[in-house]
Amino acid sequence: MEKKLNKVAKDINQFLLKFLLNQKRTDLIKSMKYGLLPGGKKIRSKLIIDVGKIFKINYKNLIYLSAAVECIHAYSLIHDDLPCMDNDNLRRGKLSTHKKFGESTAILAGNSLLTIAFEILSQKKFNINDKVKIKIINLISKSSGHSGIAGGQYSDLNFEHRKIPLNKIIDMQIKKTGKLFSFCCMAPVIISKKNKYLSSFNKLGSDIGLLFQIADDLIDYKGNTKKVGKKTKKDIKRGKATLISLLGYKNTIKYGDKIKLNIYKKIKKFGKEADDLRNTVNFILERSK
Ligand code: IPE
Ligand code: IPE
Ligand code: MG
Ligand code: MG
Ligand code: MG
Repeated sequence: MEKKLNKVAKDINQFLLKFLLNQKRTDLIKSMKYGLLPGGKKIRSKLIIDVGKIFKINYKNLIYLSAAVECIHAYSLIHDDLPCMDNDNLRRGKLSTHKKFGESTAILAGNSLLTIAFEILSQKKFNINDKVKIKIINLISKSSGHSGIAGGQYSDLNFEHRKIPLNKIIDMQIKKTGKLFSFCCMAPVIISKKNKYLSSFNKLGSDIGLLFQIADDLIDYKGNTKKVGKKTKKDIKRGKATLISLLGYKNTIKYGDKIKLNIYKKIKKFGKEADDLRNTVNFILERSK
């Protein structure tokens, strides 16, 4: 698993670096690059590659999808760390972007990484049918805005220091994290035109995203700042509404295990072709950073 993840990370980083180098040189590029590269597990990209394998999608096209997702993800992290949000100074083992470059630059670098995702997907070189491409851009847009990341982040902040019921916490986590994972699971299916699988891969993605956020919350609770590369034990201090705050640490682990087994059950029918996907799901829960 680690070896395959490293290969994906290397390919994506290479693509992104080249893409940035080919951009017009502006004063913002440096801070964008800082927030995007290197570091980051590239787990969303790995998911795209794994689902792409099941649907036999050409690797190069999967890299375009992944690069766009990583830009949106990096933007969301830069903004998540801002003083008006989680106020975190450390990200991926280094100063967060606003600490390094200042708040206004971090906001603008984040905005620019968000729009670069659409630039990557709409360019001619991303060689898929135009109608399919529009569908993909439409879906990634929805995953990022008020019905996805931004909406989930709004709830995450709004829920601080409040007692929130389970279904609302899950809804918030699916929006802030799950929707982008759903995109990762659906985009290769859209390219394959096997539309009958779309709704099941939509649900699969949100389950995997929820599992990912649960694992992130567990890591915040138990993890070590140095190893994780971001400050841990912050969620309790900030009064974040997480499954841990509601159910406790042990029950949250059990909850995560249940989701994982449920995912395994759903992908069983894809047999050996889904081995990589299964390993990624397992890694998501077992990882220590
Ligand atoms: C962290 O995401 C933010 C969440 C959605 C929980 P990652 O853990 O994927 O961050 P990087 O890209 O590896 O730094
Ligand atoms: C962030 O969740 C989710 C995003 C969409 C950025 P967290 O706030 O828990 O992520 P970390 O722990 O700071 O990486
Ligand atoms: Mg946050
Ligand atoms: Mg945060
Ligand atoms: Mg966290």
